[in-house]
Amino acid sequence: MSGDDRELLRHHGDVDAARGLADFAVNVRLDRPPRWLRARLAEALDDLGSYPSAEADETARRAVADRHGRHPDDVMVLAGAAEGFALLPALRPALAALIHPSFTEPDLALRTAGVPVERVVLDAADGYRLRAEQVPEAADLVVLGNPTNPTSVLHPAEEIRKLLRPGRIVVVDEAFIDAVPGERESVAHLADPGLLVLRSLTKMWGLPGLRAGYALGSPQVLAELGRARPHWPVNSLVLTAVRACCEPRAIAESEGAAAEFTENRTGLLDGLAGVPGVEVVGAAEAPFLLLRVPDGQRVREALRERGIAVRRGDTFPGLDTDHLRVAVRDPEQNSLLVKAFQDVVERG
Ligand SMILES: Cc1ncc(COP(=O)(O)O)c(C=O)c1O
Repeated sequence: MSGDDRELLRHHGDVDAARGLADFAVNVRLDRPPRWLRARLAEALDDLGSYPSAEADETARRAVADRHGRHPDDVMVLAGAAEGFALLPALRPALAALIHPSFTEPDLALRTAGVPVERVVLDAADGYRLRAEQVPEAADLVVLGNPTNPTSVLHPAEEIRKLLRPGRIVVVDEAFIDAVPGERESVAHLADPGLLVLRSLTKMWGLPGLRAGYALGSPQVLAELGRARPHWPVNSLVLTAVRACCEPRAIAESEGAAAEFTENRTGLLDGLAGVPGVEVVGAAEAPFLLLRVPDGQRVREALRERGIAVRRGDTFPGLDTDHLRVAVRDPEQNSLLVKAFQDVVERG
């Protein structure tokens, strides 16, 4: 991909997943929020009669701070991690280095705002491993995902810390890290003035329609980031959801889900290992796998004809049409996927 590829960068898995197809394209764990969370949101409907209060914002930020061992002033509630990306130009970077292949929204937001961007494309032969020395010294903003969508690679926190420099902000998109047992390699708890961590409620809690997430960073960086936000930037339901999803019962459920993902991913990897021609690229640690399949576009279309949606890979910088991303689902759904790959790849 080169030149002005913004239309491709705007492509997301929800477009691949049409109604009626078994959805392996979108990586949201649940098809709706859990019952207890829906009950909390339903109760909060009564709050919609007033503007979101400073007190409700403070309570949500305190809940996030307690969850991550931070100060409430280090927290900003967001309308999804996507809002965090959209706000990045407010940091007025001179040069942004974006680690790819990765989620494309930061690339799009920064380039649309006219920020000079340099793509650091990690090497497939090196397992898409982060090497801090590959990032240009001149970059005063660095953005990466951990674990990374779509490679599923989890970078060591130690390597991320090597990116820190005076005058540089390192943004770590941890939208999927709650699916990693123990949130290993998370830097959310680190109060370093150069770190800005973005978290999302979308994937774990089945909440893509609510738009809920938060940023963790120094109060100075958060103030700069939010400089041009409107008054009442997030609604009362978002504040309720953020608070609820930081409570101990939610953390316990999230840890259980992370363990389940790990088990189901092992099952899916075993199944796909038996399909000649399907290669899993990257050491998978996220609730999805990046595959390389010869004649990938034909395979994707043939899977679709069999009622299965997978995410095309070629809209991610550094990947091509032979790359497909698939979500890890429960064992029954995963065997459907393996069987479909067998039919489509082996039979040609
Ligand atoms: C890696 C990654 N980060 C962030 C997001 C956006 O998250 P949110 O729904 O919180 O805006 C997505 C959504 O697909 C994603 O894949």
